[in-house]
Amino acid sequence: MCGIVGHIGSMNSIQVVLQGLSKLEYRGYDSAGVSYIDHSGNLFNQKKEGKLVNLEKLLGKDLPQTNICIGHTRWATHGEVNDVNSHPHSFGSISLVHNGIIENANEIKKELREKGYEFKSQTDTESFLGLMIINMKEGLSFSDAVRASFKRVKGHSAFVVLCKETKEIIAVKRGAPLVCGMHETDSNVMVSSDPYALVGLVDKLYFPEDEVFCTLSGAQTNLITFAEFDGTPSKRYLSTKQNLSADASEKGDFEHFMLKEIHEQPGLIRALTQYYIGGDGEASLEDVSSIKPERLILSACGTAAYAAYCARDIIENENRIPCVVELGSEFRYRDPILSKGDVALFISQSGETADTLASQGLCKQKGIKTVSIVNVMGSTLYRDCDHNLLIRAGVEIGVASTKAFTQQVLTSKLLSFTLKGHLKNAQERKALIDRFDLLASRIESLLQNQDVIKKIAEEIYNYKGYFYTGRGTYYPIALEGALKLKEIAYVHAEGYAAGELKHGPIALIDENMVNIAIIGPELHEKVLSNAEEIKSRKGIIVALADVNDEEAKGMCRYHVPLKFDGLGDLSPIYVNVANQLLAYYMAKFKGTDIDKPRNLAKSVTVE
Ligand code: M6R
Repeated sequence: MCGIVGHIGSMNSIQVVLQGLSKLEYRGYDSAGVSYIDHSGNLFNQKKEGKLVNLEKLLGKDLPQTNICIGHTRWATHGEVNDVNSHPHSFGSISLVHNGIIENANEIKKELREKGYEFKSQTDTESFLGLMIINMKEGLSFSDAVRASFKRVKGHSAFVVLCKETKEIIAVKRGAPLVCGMHETDSNVMVSSDPYALVGLVDKLYFPEDEVFCTLSGAQTNLITFAEFDGTPSKRYLSTKQNLSADASEKGDFEHFMLKEIHEQPGLIRALTQYYIGGDGEASLEDVSSIKPERLILSACGTAAYAAYCARDIIENENRIPCVVELGSEFRYRDPILSKGDVALFISQSGETADTLASQGLCKQKGIKTVSIVNVMGSTLYRDCDHNLLIRAGVEIGVASTKAFTQQVLTSKLLSFTLKGHLKNAQERKALIDRFDLLASRIESLLQNQDVIKKIAEEIYNYKGYFYTGRGTYYPIALEGALKLKEIAYVHAEGYAAGELKHGPIALIDENMVNIAIIGPELHEKVLSNAEEIKSRKGIIVALADVNDEEAKGMCRYHVPLKFDGLGDLSPIYVNVANQLLAYYMAKFKGTDIDKPRNLAKSVTVE
């Protein structure tokens, strides 16, 4: 959840690290800091509570000259948000940054206190620093001290440690994201918690496996080396070319990344079709066609879990394969009954969500085949699953997931299509390509007419609470709509199956409550009756209904005109885009920080 960047090389390292941190600020933004060694060999540590801009102010306009630096943006887990608890943590010749949780920090702290180490912060991270200091005091070299300290800590973490004496950075992780990078022609080497921070700076990426020690040094040869616990060279890493485009980090003409990402959806849908069934990426679909699940277990968190519900509906309806959805955070702690014929499907944008990874680990341990639908190639989920389907959404920067949801559901549809055996059927392929294209066009018209949604948002953004309702395949869309609104507009919103309202929550309906009612073709009459029940209790209704739905128009105060015909099982994705816009504009009227909503981090790498 925290962002980590380290650099050694010919460029000014502070500048490179700040640039990288600015790209990672979407992961966590409670504080930021850097540690660097200046040209006279002195180690400096500067950190500041709040967003990166506060650190930039502290550093001033004339940045210190350095060729070795590590930096961090924090999403607080242990200890309040303040300067002292900010990373890097530094003592003597060592500075370090950390992402994750040290589960046995209290036990280590007790032991270190007995050995005379005085803690300055309330963080779990400082226990690692204490171990480093005591280990080096007891005679271990820098690299041996990192190994010995890492051996002691429990839990999922990544550490990046800088040493003033050796002028090296050592990075290591267990169950947390970490990537190293190198520019093949100039002598710049980097490390980060996210490949996105390295875009435009390195051309080769290395994804180390757990417990591989990556040493970055300024030496002319062997700029990055990989070693096992016993110090022997390691080959346990995946190397790929860096192929993310630098444009992804720009907002262009859009006020927020979220709005930009909503607008990217039609193009991404067409590109996904082209990749998987119009040419290039077919191989990946052929790879998954060998999977013959007797039952599919889908597991994910947050928005990705709602995408999993949509995937369940699509796959179950099309293939009649029983599907169950399990929330990652719950599944990992259950003792689920799994059988041989089960296949587990994990959906994730980042591929680094701790609970999703733990669920995948559980299935793997029980001998169940695992498949991912994931955005980040080379992520932990991608590396750990037996089969992978990339959603090809590009970098998603807005903390509120939008385009990833659309691509996750569409990739599930492609999986469903493949399981059905349609991959080689030209007619079926053409029909699906046309339907994806129709979806892209419908989203385009929704975007062209978004002022209707903006006006409604302006009218309703100040009410007491919001119920999103839907039935059948629109139920997960109601859940996702409410989540989107909560996370960026900071208002209470709840997603509900429309037929369930009368079993309790209808007690909340009065003239201060808004109901965003998805009135699609499915169970149409029933959903209208549910809306009628709300209207009778003076609730304000916004109908997401067809342009020709006279009944919905007559009954509801507001109407977002949609066009459902021809979309079939893709229509929930279309309705969801209307909800994305509604949440976006309501948040804008509320004046919240849309791309970096409070308390949230883009990638939830702690449980
Ligand atoms: O990277 P993932 O898709 O695994 O992330 C899962 C959730 O943390 C994520 O979807 C979260 O709910 C978003 N903030 C929702 O907009």
